[in-house]
Amino acid sequence: MKTTVIAVDGFASTGKSTLSKRLAKALDFTYMDTGYMYRAVSYFALTTDLIQGDVIQEQALEVALSETSFSWSTAAGPKQMLFNGKAYGDELRTLAISSWVSRIAQLGFVREHLVNQQRILSQLGSVVMDGRDIGTVVFPNADFKFFLIADPKVRAQRRFDELQAKGEEVLFEEILKNVVDRDHQDSTRAISPLRKAEEAVEIDTTLFSVEEVFEQMMSVVKA
Ligand code: DC
Repeated sequence: MKTTVIAVDGFASTGKSTLSKRLAKALDFTYMDTGYMYRAVSYFALTTDLIQGDVIQEQALEVALSETSFSWSTAAGPKQMLFNGKAYGDELRTLAISSWVSRIAQLGFVREHLVNQQRILSQLGSVVMDGRDIGTVVFPNADFKFFLIADPKVRAQRRFDELQAKGEEVLFEEILKNVVDRDHQDSTRAISPLRKAEEAVEIDTTLFSVEEVFEQMMSVVKA
């Protein structure tokens, strides 16, 4: 059976996950959040003392990572991704994790492990995947590719509102710095840097509502 891959790449907080979830629901595809995977590995490293002070214990992390796995939950409803059998939520979206994740995502062995897992996890059917390197590295032959951009201040405001709503005490300036730093680290790293695949449809979400961007994406997929 022919399955379809929709790749949604772009900068932090451009609306990738909200839009990818909407697309997956409308098309009855599985939604795969690959940022969740990099965040889960960062959380794992932080909570198992594989990050000490400002240093990532790379060799120990590589060994530990080879004994971890991602899987899909078998519970009813939208598929949930598990890391070592557990579903993670808001604990992966704190500023502390966001501050480490781009450094973790630069490590070659982390990327190799996760790209491998992403290809395995996508074998169960059609998928909408969001990330930074889906259309360029993970699935260069994806059926549809989108690349989302937006003004950094608007993106930081979205993240700020999201964290405040969850009760996390944060400063807007801190969030803006994190967004700008991650843009820089994600797009200048040596391995699989964030960049637009040539044939990807670029959408600037700064001035559009979720609904409007969703309609634009659906019209590309339906055409
Ligand atoms: O989408 P997100 O903000 O949750 O992603 C968190 C970080 O993970 C992001 O700053 C870079 C990294 N990432 C990556 O390098 N490749 C991906 N496919 C997805 C995320």
